[in-house]
Amino acid sequence: MQITVLTLFPEYFDSPMAASLLGKAVENERVGFRTVQIRDFAHDKHRTVDDTPFGGGSGMVMKPEPLVEALESVPPREGQVRILLTPRGERLTQPLVRELAESSELVFLCGRYEGFDERVTEWVDREISIGDFVLSGGEPAALMIIEAVARLVPGVMGNAESGVDESFGEGLLEYPQYTRPAEFRGRKVPDVLLSGHHAAVRRWRRQQSVVTTWRRRPDLLAQAALTPEDQYWIDEAAAAESGQSAGGRSFGIKD
Ligand code: ADE
Repeated sequence: MQITVLTLFPEYFDSPMAASLLGKAVENERVGFRTVQIRDFAHDKHRTVDDTPFGGGSGMVMKPEPLVEALESVPPREGQVRILLTPRGERLTQPLVRELAESSELVFLCGRYEGFDERVTEWVDREISIGDFVLSGGEPAALMIIEAVARLVPGVMGNAESGVDESFGEGLLEYPQYTRPAEFRGRKVPDVLLSGHHAAVRRWRRQQSVVTTWRRRPDLLAQAALTPEDQYWIDEAAAAESGQSAGGRSFGIKD
């Protein structure tokens, strides 16, 4: 996959794109990475890229010419997706990350200042937000998407399985993980994980995923395919919180 970032701050990406998994992906040429300096497409000798907003108001707005010309400097190719980072965009989710991972090239357009001229949106394929908060520029948002997408590119992650079992894999948060020592400052690892009983471990992990998602992110449950046993665990957790016990058939797991 090729990644191209149009930005006023190319140096922002220097360390993150050289470190850890991303660094290796670039080194192994699973991911190609380059930046384009938007300011190189300014029209005046001061290399101006912003101006005051029509209609008044505080702050500056990025001018359309340098942004669109920077976009046009990237050769089009099949499977290319041009993305504008903006808090007004569609929310980034793991299904969207998986969709973007199928692209041949992601081109990120990073805005700065108070925003950009709205006409620029006609030159991109998607507008994406990484969450309901405002950053002072699109660079951290682009980096987050790159980080989430690159690990799904074939050959980037060492362990092929670790992309499947994780949080949001099935629309649920991930179960908790433990490693040695089995007891740390009086806190013990749940017995089931030491039992060597694979089916029991799988079941306990599913229960943990379901109940943690119910507790922390109930909004995700609407999209998840829940089994009757999953629903029992939720009812049981809800009953425990309200001081009652779950009725009906017992699926209970001790932890
Ligand atoms: N630029 C500023 N805030 C942003 C956000 N939340 N997501 C994407 N791009 C942004």
